[in-house]
Amino acid sequence: MIIEHPTDRDLLEAAKLLKNGFLVAFPTETVYGLGADADNSIAVKRIFDVKGRPTDHPLIVHVADIESVDHFAKNVPDFAKKLMALFWPGPLTLILQKRENVANAASGHHSTIGLRMPSHPLALELLKRTKQLGVFGVAAPSANRFGRVSPTQAGHVGEEFDHDLLILNGGSCQIGIESTIIDCSRDLPVLLRPGQLSVQELELAIVAPIYQQLIDHEPSENPPPTLSSSAPKASGRLLAHYAPKAKVSLWSAQELRQQVDNYRPKGHELIGIWSQNPFPSTPEQYLFEAMPSNAALCAHELFSTLRNFDKAQVDQIWIEHPPLSPEWQGICDRLKRAASAQ
Ligand code: TXA
Ligand code: MG
Repeated sequence: MIIEHPTDRDLLEAAKLLKNGFLVAFPTETVYGLGADADNSIAVKRIFDVKGRPTDHPLIVHVADIESVDHFAKNVPDFAKKLMALFWPGPLTLILQKRENVANAASGHHSTIGLRMPSHPLALELLKRTKQLGVFGVAAPSANRFGRVSPTQAGHVGEEFDHDLLILNGGSCQIGIESTIIDCSRDLPVLLRPGQLSVQELELAIVAPIYQQLIDHEPSENPPPTLSSSAPKASGRLLAHYAPKAKVSLWSAQELRQQVDNYRPKGHELIGIWSQNPFPSTPEQYLFEAMPSNAALCAHELFSTLRNFDKAQVDQIWIEHPPLSPEWQGICDRLKRAASAQ
């Protein structure tokens, strides 16, 4: 059930549902989340059940304020405190050492925990109200079935799950790709998942290097010096993630043009194309969508474009590889994963 314009009363009801062990889907500035009380292992198990997600894949716990970090994490290093002070609320998740006996199910029984304070006003208000009811954090993965495209609109969440799930509509998510994840559980910060906040921005802010250890990616250009043996397990970082139903291929602009010129679609085959370079006269077997040349706009449209291609029942999706500059890193990461799925 989608609540179109959540009122104060709706938020209080949603907070009570969370307090009582039910799931609530809510908007964040990145993507919609499927939330449960992070300290209630039965409620958290429901998230894994409805998503079809393996229970050792840790969830991000969303907090109302920086003070709540103390409930979940210990030995928080200074660089992590700096990141929180500068970028929270916002699209940044920090992996920290977990206190014993908190959020065990949410953290996938790992010794670390992912924490984030989102900036979407509805998310913050919901978190404040749940905290007033004694809930310190809301565990919330993206509100999609395991391995599928993350939802950036309330309607996308509705497409994924049963009708009785409460979904708070907060409009279309401003950023559109998931938060940047920095591992802060060891002596040095390490990027685990790129997002809208770029490594360069984060490095400038903390005046220190951030190493890169993207799971399942090609060898990093900046691997951490002595840390690689004890990297936290981010088992959710499977290469084949963020997949629409149709097969996705990534091409350079030139390859894509040649492909369109030379390919002979089979029968009624329909091919979705997402590219910055327009195709003035594509035959009707091609469904063309213009890719924004601005990275922030492109991130905002990425997942809904993939979903729209699925709705149009395309057989394949061909995407022009975006630029390689830092602000495109999160987008390139999601596209590579989408293209690795089949
Ligand atoms: O923007 C976001 O981060 C969204 C919104 C809803 O906040 N959430 C999200 O959650 O993307 P999810 O579950 O789809 O992705 C969580 C990622 C996974 O790749 C998981 O492996 C990693 O965070 N993660 C969570 N806790 C971790 C931990 N303790 N150690 C390592 N990785 C962790
Ligand atoms: Mg996800």
